[in-house]
Amino acid sequence: MALEDVDLGFVPLGDTGLQTSELQFGTWRFGRETEAGNLEIDEERAHALLDAYAAAGGRFVDTADVYGGGAAEEWIGAWLADRDRERFTIASKIYWQIREGDPNSRGTNRKNVRHRIDALLDRLDTDYVDVLYIHRWDDETPTRELMRTLNGLVEVGKVHYLGTSTMRPNAWKVARANELARSEGWEPFTVAQPRYNLVDREIEGDYLEMCREHGIAVCPWSPLGQGFLTGKYDREEGLTGESLAGESSRFEAHYLTPENFDAHDVLDTVAEEVGATPAQTALAWLSHREGVAAPIVGARTVEQLEENLVAGGIDLSEEQLERLNEAKAGPYDGL
Ligand SMILES: NC(=O)c1ccc[n+]([C@@H]2O[C@H](COP(=O)([O-])OP(=O)(O)OC[C@H]3O[C@@H](n4cnc5c(N)ncnc54)[C@H](OP(=O)(O)O)[C@@H]3O)[C@@H](O)[C@H]2O)c1
Repeated sequence: MALEDVDLGFVPLGDTGLQTSELQFGTWRFGRETEAGNLEIDEERAHALLDAYAAAGGRFVDTADVYGGGAAEEWIGAWLADRDRERFTIASKIYWQIREGDPNSRGTNRKNVRHRIDALLDRLDTDYVDVLYIHRWDDETPTRELMRTLNGLVEVGKVHYLGTSTMRPNAWKVARANELARSEGWEPFTVAQPRYNLVDREIEGDYLEMCREHGIAVCPWSPLGQGFLTGKYDREEGLTGESLAGESSRFEAHYLTPENFDAHDVLDTVAEEVGATPAQTALAWLSHREGVAAPIVGARTVEQLEENLVAGGIDLSEEQLERLNEAKAGPYDGL
């Protein structure tokens, strides 16, 4: 399928009444500097990426208040100003500390949440966000304070749906928070944003089960393993193309492992069979995983984004999906 034929469709956002684009667009790299000091995406490129995503029918933009130190939200706000805000679904996140030496400027205490939502709405130049995620779980804020505060934001219309972007060990905390919210008649978490891709399988098992049990839509981040699953890394030579995402001390240790290259070999074979690129095949596989509503695609260039957006048109047989499922063991396999 060619890009001009791409018209991203809508799929249900879990058990909510909202529909999301089948591929969401992530803006983590807007205004972000790598450890080597290189800027991944400037404002002009950011707007070109948003243009390309919207031209392909994309309507769901994911951001966070710390991306680019607030620049990502500002750039999205400036871009949206020339468009019909109502046609787009915007998700943002709060959690990370924003003022040095001020413990109240991190986490999900009521003071911080109320301040941060107003600040991010200002930057986005909008009255509401469609989804507000807590970026990480804050063990220092009581669950009752958190859920009551978040419910208040939904009640006054600053937020439509609540999301949690936590890792697998916190599944039971999300479940407990949702049970409390439901018993009090408050809004529960209905969206989750975990890391999930062909080689990062840690949420398989209790986290995914918890999401299914609680009707939580799963929107995976780093669906291409920060670029590892695009075919530009070689087992012997390492990086063979260009990358800024790879300029991270953790990237090599986390992704460039023998097990991940074995999984990539399976991906390459299936990609060749279906006449797609590894990136498109990895995204198509992820979209098929049970419980997954829509992966959040990242891209540094318009060309990369265009390649990734074609993924929706890739057909994988049951047998090919199974081979990809088996390419790397989930956390509980064999135990
Ligand atoms: N909640 C959280 O804690 C959290 C954490 C991370 C991300 N997220 C969200 O998830 C989104 C996606 O995450 P991500 O950026 O890590 O996604 P990703 O798709 O796994 O990685 C994106 C990077 O891979 C490379 N790439 C992408 N497509 C490519 C292609 N077709 N060919 C070659 N290289 C390609 C690019 O980097 P290079 O070209 O520089 O190699 C690009 O910046 C973020 O924007 C953010 O919205 C959330």
